[in-house]
Amino acid sequence: MKGIILAGGMGTRLRPITKTCSKQLLPIYDKPMIFYPLSILLNSGINEICIVSTPKDLPEFKKLLGDGKKFGIDLTYFKQLKPVGIADVFNVTRKFIKDSSVTLILGDNIFFNFDKDQLKCGDVDGARVFCKEVSNPQRYGVVEFGQNKMINKIVEKPSNPPSNYAVTGLYQYDKNVIDYVGELKPSKRGELEITDLNNLYIKENKLHSVMLQKATDWFDTGTFSSLFEASKYVHQYQMKNKKPIGSPEVAAINSGLVKKQEMLKILSKENNQYSEFIYQTYKK
Ligand code: TTP
Repeated sequence: MKGIILAGGMGTRLRPITKTCSKQLLPIYDKPMIFYPLSILLNSGINEICIVSTPKDLPEFKKLLGDGKKFGIDLTYFKQLKPVGIADVFNVTRKFIKDSSVTLILGDNIFFNFDKDQLKCGDVDGARVFCKEVSNPQRYGVVEFGQNKMINKIVEKPSNPPSNYAVTGLYQYDKNVIDYVGELKPSKRGELEITDLNNLYIKENKLHSVMLQKATDWFDTGTFSSLFEASKYVHQYQMKNKKPIGSPEVAAINSGLVKKQEMLKILSKENNQYSEFIYQTYKK
């Protein structure tokens, strides 16, 4: 299983901030946004990961995360020349995926209290979408269920939602995803749509749904309000529990990608509040 974080796009809803800065580098309280999806992948022990972003922003991600050695992983970078849709990520990363199954997480999707056992670390058969029960399904891609929890259809922003389950920005695909993407045509808005890709898997009866637990909180931080709410969540959690949340350093320790003592040694030299907080929490 390999991992992809998609961190390009236009970020038009967050202008003017995103006129000069990548959305996925904006702070969610004390960390850049991309730390959170990276932590989800690391927690599951996925150790071959690539980041996809715009030609302008990619160097900033490299500066922030380097080659991944710090986290015990292999981290590579791919440019998406134009933001022509989420499903286009599989055209961009064809050489990276090769014959593997792949987990895709959107760089602005943040999950807290995520049960890492729900993410498959080995090969998957078909595709898996992670769904969350929401109170306002009209705003999302919503699933219509058939038998055995299989999905009949995904409908984008329905005025009459077939269920309360929204498709989040976390997906797993088998190696055939590259062939399926080849069949896609741009939508009316000129994008290769992830929903169209998922609907191709549905046609083959190969799209599985994974229901996120009630305790899992999900934020899509593409708007000012959700950006603020997610920051508030992290601040309150860390104040109350006196430990970091969404930290890739901690995820790397917990999943055994890096030895705790090794990570503490690195953190002790970084000389900033974020590293100091993790160091003090885990040195005992
Ligand atoms: P969106 O939030 O749908 O799009 P956006 O980030 O461009 O924001 P806005 O709608 O405000 O203009 O994208 C979801 C995620 O996927 C986000 O992390 C950006 C990423 N993305 C790409 O990297 N490339 C793309 O071509 C698209 C459409 C999205």
